[in-house]
Amino acid sequence: MYIRTEPLRVETLTVEISGLPTALQGTKLVQMSDFHYGPHQLPTKLLERAIAICNEAEPDLVLLTGDFVTYAPDPIHEPVKYFQQLQSRAGIYAVLGNHDMYYPESKPEVMAALTEIGIKVLWNEVAYPLGSQLALVGMPDFWSREFNPAPVMDRIATDIPRIVLSHQPDSAQVLREWRVDLQLSGHIHGGQICLPKIGPLLLWVNLLLKNVFKSIYSVFPWLIKHWEWAEGFHQVGSNYLYVNRGLGTYWPGRLFCPPDVTVITLVQRH
Ligand SMILES: [Fe+2]
Repeated sequence: MYIRTEPLRVETLTVEISGLPTALQGTKLVQMSDFHYGPHQLPTKLLERAIAICNEAEPDLVLLTGDFVTYAPDPIHEPVKYFQQLQSRAGIYAVLGNHDMYYPESKPEVMAALTEIGIKVLWNEVAYPLGSQLALVGMPDFWSREFNPAPVMDRIATDIPRIVLSHQPDSAQVLREWRVDLQLSGHIHGGQICLPKIGPLLLWVNLLLKNVFKSIYSVFPWLIKHWEWAEGFHQVGSNYLYVNRGLGTYWPGRLFCPPDVTVITLVQRH
């Protein structure tokens, strides 16, 4: 079934990082998210356009925040052919989303396909692709039983700034326990259907449900709790969160919510 999408929009963002080394001033990251690869959910042309934009930005790092597929894992073998064209000075890093773990065989198949072409998938892991003075952490999906920030976050010296890849924005609530200079997430697709001046339609449905059924989250723990984080830049306690609207689209489609490639420049916070 045809799913309505919209022309890609490039978002640009400058993020201040406390303690960013002078050598990393102006570091450029490109984030892409929620591919949901499939002919109906992500037209090939849109993916090609996203990759061209990414390469034009000449990024230091490319960061992919999950949901490469939707249900079965085997469509992953198609987008990796396009991902091979990605150019990034210090590598390409990824985390998996809830859809990349839909079936028991999903995680190993998606992970292997990405790893085979040189994309590093972080799973409760820290890496230092830009040197020892900036950490990059990748978490398993928030709904995975393996989502376990303590061992990895506690291993990073507190004076070292860190970027955390975590598919679901709701995980920011848990990650508040640790220093997170920039969390990059996706998952919500910006709500997909957004009305001018009103925002994502589902935000209002969610507010209504929360008011009518007070215990809704104990009955449906998988419901999104923070619709106010459906897209964009947010402060969460003393941490910062950026939520990408994703590239792929579910039924019934997108309205005033274009697919997103985000170019982020890091600068020192004074
Ligand atoms: Fe998604």
